[in-house]
Amino acid sequence: MKRHSKAIPVIVVVFLIAVAAALAGCKSNAASPAATSAPAAADGATLLQERCSVCHTTDRITQARKTSAEWDTTVTRMIGKGAQLSSEEKTVLVDYLAATYGL
Ligand code: HEC
Repeated sequence: MKRHSKAIPVIVVVFLIAVAAALAGCKSNAASPAATSAPAAADGATLLQERCSVCHTTDRITQARKTSAEWDTTVTRMIGKGAQLSSEEKTVLVDYLAATYGL
């Protein structure tokens, strides 16, 4: 019985170390996606170069001046033609176009 009562604190300490290690692991795991998500999301200029130069040069885009609503209409039309943009990327691109080539 004496052996058992001595063994219990050792188990508790080992358990606490394991919990602490697990929590430390969770913290570093939670931090890494946040740190990598910013570079993963393409910005408007990159989307323009990568997705809008497939069928024509970007000249007709960079020479145009449109309102935000008009850019939205144009980009929606280009997606209808086959431009590859997720709805999130479309929002980023339309915001970029309106800010850079806006009226
Ligand atoms: C699948 C091929 C294709 C892709 C990809 C594409 N376009 Fe176009 N685009 C066209 C064609 C074809 C025309 C000419 C016919 C027309 O205007 O409908 C055109 C014309 C245009 C014009 C001139 C007409 C207007 O409405 O002002 C603009 C501006 C334009 N595209 C912007 C874009 C942007 C921005 C992107 C990126 C999201 C893009 N395009 C991607 C096929 C494409």
